[in-house]
Amino acid sequence: MNTTRILLGQTLQFTDSPLTHGAEAAIHHRHGAVAVAEGRILMTGTAEVVRAAHPQAEITDYGPSLILPGFVDAHAHYPQTAIIASWGKRLIDWLNSYTFPEEMRLADPAYAAQIANRYLDLLLAHGTTTVASYCTIHPESVTAFFEAAEARGMRVAAGKTCMDRNAPDGLCDTPQTAYDDSKALLETWHGRGRAEYVITPRFSPTSTPEQLAALGALWAEHPDCLMQTHLSEQTDEIAWVKSLFPEARDYLDTYEAHGLLSERGMYGHAIHLEPREIDRLSETGAALIHCPTSNTFIGSGLFDMTLAASLPVGLATDTGGGSSFSMLRTMAAAYEIAQLRGNPLHPSALLWLATEGSARAMHMADRVGTLDAGTEADLVILDLASTPAIAQAAARAEDIWQAVFPTIMLGDDRAVRAVWVAGRQL
Ligand code: GUN
Ligand code: ZN
Repeated sequence: MNTTRILLGQTLQFTDSPLTHGAEAAIHHRHGAVAVAEGRILMTGTAEVVRAAHPQAEITDYGPSLILPGFVDAHAHYPQTAIIASWGKRLIDWLNSYTFPEEMRLADPAYAAQIANRYLDLLLAHGTTTVASYCTIHPESVTAFFEAAEARGMRVAAGKTCMDRNAPDGLCDTPQTAYDDSKALLETWHGRGRAEYVITPRFSPTSTPEQLAALGALWAEHPDCLMQTHLSEQTDEIAWVKSLFPEARDYLDTYEAHGLLSERGMYGHAIHLEPREIDRLSETGAALIHCPTSNTFIGSGLFDMTLAASLPVGLATDTGGGSSFSMLRTMAAAYEIAQLRGNPLHPSALLWLATEGSARAMHMADRVGTLDAGTEADLVILDLASTPAIAQAAARAEDIWQAVFPTIMLGDDRAVRAVWVAGRQL
């Protein structure tokens, strides 16, 4: 049955990126509305105009709550759900002590399914409706993830994490099996329902040049796929990459030389970049993914958000190196890191990064990450007074930015009043 539904609340839309165009790129309706039918957004505007256009629609009134596109998390590791908040290590020790032993457990398809379902339930509870996730080396971990997402109707991107060195035997494939397994999963899942396959070499230290080249070849055969990996996260890691790839000009070159640099590439962290790397990434139009809670939690460094002037930047939790499932907490950490670099990010920029910015980095902004007509109706409705601490700060607000900033800085899953996926309220 084709029922049109109108959601009433405050709405925010963007005509462009507030990072480059300022808060004037935002359109705020104090009494706004989003009309939804058949899983898509029909119209967003003032309540008066939207109701007049759809007089028969059923109404859901969210009062002063804020209707946003569902959050988009552009880099996460669902297999690390259970080891979030593991104490005391920096990147390489953290991988060896916590991450690799846990990722081994996902060899068991039943455990992989349990973690995938738990992870996606946590994501939705935090208002995140789309994610780009790494899986593990095990093809079954990819199947488990896509099946769990399909059961919830979520638009997700994910891929088998490929490694053929510097990891435990149980977590290593080969150049050939990485290619074959990735290709088979891609053929099964890419474009099935709302799923997208992402070619996923973990990072240069855990792939031989032969494996990077095999995945580069697969990408050349499927250039419409995204590719995700890690780049220049910690200084020790960069020194290790130099020793493993003595002929490379820099870290990015280890990908570039093997066919793993293009516009549909997503490079996580990208903190300690060389000028040549920034130039090449900008020329290519590849996306950097900022993972602020991870970058402080694992002690990686302070991402330079001014790079967003010259290339696409997405925002991400990096669960479980990141210390939160919440894109609100992630926006707060992005704000704090930018403050430490002398660049206070406006609330409009933070909200844009967590929605359209990440969707653009994933080449999905025509489908998710905005309230634009024709896009898929994935929505989060935020209560801007979800705790006494937030309510008392927001009570003083004189505009939408002052009203929403306490929720960005202090908010968590309690601020998520409702979530809609493909036009269906959960
Ligand atoms: N670099 C390579 N693998 C990982 C990972 O799982 N998490 C983070 N934060 N960095 C990585
Ligand atoms: Zn990561």
